[in-house]
Amino acid sequence: LSRIVVAVDGPSGSGKSSVSRGVAAKLGLRYLDTGAQYRAVTYWMLQNKVDLADPAAIAVDAAVPAIVSGTDPGAPAITVDGEDVAAAIREADVTGAVSAVAAVPAVRARLIALQREIIGAGGIVVEGRDIAAVVAPDAAAKVFLTASEDARARRRNTENGGGSGTVAATREALTRRDTVDNRTNALAAAPGAIVVDATELTLEQVIDKVAGIVIHAA
Ligand code: C5P
Repeated sequence: LSRIVVAVDGPSGSGKSSVSRGVAAKLGLRYLDTGAQYRAVTYWMLQNKVDLADPAAIAVDAAVPAIVSGTDPGAPAITVDGEDVAAAIREADVTGAVSAVAAVPAVRARLIALQREIIGAGGIVVEGRDIAAVVAPDAAAKVFLTASEDARARRRNTENGGGSGTVAATREALTRRDTVDNRTNALAAAPGAIVVDATELTLEQVIDKVAGIVIHAA
């Protein structure tokens, strides 16, 4: 297991982060949240008033922010130019803008290179959208985690504290992000990926299921 690479892809709200962290902690592996990196670049672009309607402007600055990702599943850390942005990247302004930033090829090229560097010799669970297809096509274990739209909206609404809006509004925002992501950021299961539907399962059950897939693949 110490060299294994586990790719966990799936749409927003499928529980990817909780599941990936749980599996990494259970199996003693490192953990990388690639969505947090796209969010961190987006956060920097918003702070620096980059025109996010202009892909060329995004591309020019794609390599400027220094992104550092921790790999401890117990406390996933992320900094931009030394600033801890773990909380700020979950804010609505970043969530609303991240799909457009992630669609710019220069951003993807830069972050994919960084992700491969962090993956290094392995021993890691990597979650995102394009991990099995692009970032780590040789990953020994590939999981595509999904859940019904309702289940994903409910989960995301609870994560947001429930107070920030109705499940219906959350569901609408999720669907909108899925549409953009679908166009550009590969939201389908990669060849060889095992599809896990979390709709009817508890978090513990999904972690057990994915951990089983990893052990079987090792
Ligand atoms: O997983 P999370 O919701 O934090 O991802 C935020 C956004 O980053 C996604 O909506 C997607 O646009 C982008 N993303 C991506 N490729 C990845 C991970 C995330 O394009 N590997």
